[in-house]
Amino acid sequence: MSKLRLFQALAVVCILSLAALAHAAPIVIKFSHVVAEDTPKGQMAVKLKQCVDAKLAGKVQLEVFPSSQLFDDDKVLSAMLLGDVQLAAPALSKFEKYTTVLQIYDLPFLFKDMKAVDTFQQGPEGQAMLKSMEDKGLIGLGYIHNGLKQMGANKPLRVPADAKGQKFRIMTSDVLAAQFDAVNAIPLKKPFSEVFTLLQTKAIDGQENTWSNMYTQKMHEVQDYITETNHGLLDYMLVTSAEFWNGLPADVRTELEACIKEAIAYGNKVSDEKDIDDKKKIADSGRTQIITITPEERQQWVEAMKPVWAKFAPSIGQKNIDAAVAANK
Ligand code: LMR
Repeated sequence: MSKLRLFQALAVVCILSLAALAHAAPIVIKFSHVVAEDTPKGQMAVKLKQCVDAKLAGKVQLEVFPSSQLFDDDKVLSAMLLGDVQLAAPALSKFEKYTTVLQIYDLPFLFKDMKAVDTFQQGPEGQAMLKSMEDKGLIGLGYIHNGLKQMGANKPLRVPADAKGQKFRIMTSDVLAAQFDAVNAIPLKKPFSEVFTLLQTKAIDGQENTWSNMYTQKMHEVQDYITETNHGLLDYMLVTSAEFWNGLPADVRTELEACIKEAIAYGNKVSDEKDIDDKKKIADSGRTQIITITPEERQQWVEAMKPVWAKFAPSIGQKNIDAAVAANK
């Protein structure tokens, strides 16, 4: 081939490659979660999609799958490591297979309010926990709030003795199992998507969750009482796979980080609002009775469940627990 021909051929290859690049398919990001759209996490995901559509149009296509449409939380992290999903935000209770430091968030009566949760999460120990699963290939991109949990059952729960022998659905967390063992109840690890039916068919007697999750899943329609205990936290970690995240073009990653920050701030605002509004909607529905316990009754729960802290201190790290306690001040 003459030099001219070779040059022409190369030029054609270059032009074709540039044209292909110009029409390169966008990077598809699947975000799978288990809650309804009208929840703090659901709204965070919607906001993230709006931001990505506006700022990364043509480069990134974010697809959100709410209500366990794509994966339940027991499958989503292994699917992420296989590359089948790129974003998820399971409850902090659901990472035990990958790290034990996050068990801290399930310790009963650890945080007095969401301000304390924020202080701890934004402090050095909370931030280090975002990186606690990097050796397993998972990167934490931020915390998302839902709120403090309440306890629902078909009988009024006022003191720990009322929970004796009652079957409670819990998330897949050994700490939560120990929490219910401590009051002689029977904890059953079950997926979120099954809770309504388990309550309806009386396969369980009770459950613990936030006001927004109970309201959007209509749990208040299938259990007679909800005790306002604020005994534990339901928060999430937005996670991605290290392989996917590190493989993104740097400019895309930077834009995504900005969108994530904006979406989390929005989701957390929604969580504050829904905590009040959804409790009111449940109360107004008249389908269940909300029980307010006295400080003395609450103290009985605190004392009954306190041994759980010592049990898990070795796997969580006492230093972390001390920092969380200090965040309440
Ligand atoms: C649960 O399983 O109860 C929660 O983790 C659901 C959720 O994601 O809020």
